Amino acid sequence: MGGEKCYNTPMNALTIVHETVKRFAHAGGVCVDATAGRGYDAAFLCECVGESGKVYAFDIQREAIDSTKALLASRGFKATVIEDSHANMAQYVAEDSADVIMFNLGYLPKGDHRIFTRFDSTRQAIESGLKILKRGGLMSICVYYGGDSGYEERDALMPYLATLDDELYQVITVSFTNWKKDPPYPVFIIKN
Ligand SMILES: C[S@@+](CC[C@H](N)C(=O)[O-])C[C@H]1O[C@@H](n2cnc3c(N)ncnc32)[C@H](O)[C@@H]1O
Repeated sequence: MGGEKCYNTPMNALTIVHETVKRFAHAGGVCVDATAGRGYDAAFLCECVGESGKVYAFDIQREAIDSTKALLASRGFKATVIEDSHANMAQYVAEDSADVIMFNLGYLPKGDHRIFTRFDSTRQAIESGLKILKRGGLMSICVYYGGDSGYEERDALMPYLATLDDELYQVITVSFTNWKKDPPYPVFIIKN
């Protein structure tokens, strides 16, 4: 019966996603950042796969693409950064090849809040991503809602995810049950 436990890492959507992704991403693996934004998740994925791995990052905004390339360069990472909708990711990434696909929904931090992820393209991207994902691979979706991006995407996304075939996929949603102010939350999809 030891001493006190020390909780140094806060339990929030970002830390839970990163800790979970680390279980699925490995050196030499293939990972996709479906929403590159400022490049922090792409950099995290580059760290997970190492020099022998491969990271693809998608965003529709030139500002996000430039930010991501600059952040990766400043940290000495290489990734394929693509200015296109994640709905088209199957045109760039081979089927059954990815260990991890990350989505971080919402708008570009410190960017234009009128441009944010929308259910129609997010759904297409999830469908493409599930083809790209290896069996045993992980898709993470960090759901941001409220504020300038509203509730429409979340309200359409959650019923859609509930329709995914439970023989093929496990869908796990993390709920911050007593948190107020619309906390972002992670959804994980594991391909059986
Ligand atoms: C919350 S930010 C992502 C944050 C990012 N992962 C990071 O580490 O900085 C969401 C991003 O999704 C992008 N986005 C919106 N619709 C998109 C689409 N259809 N395809 C790809 N990216 C999209 C936005 O431009 C924005 O940069």
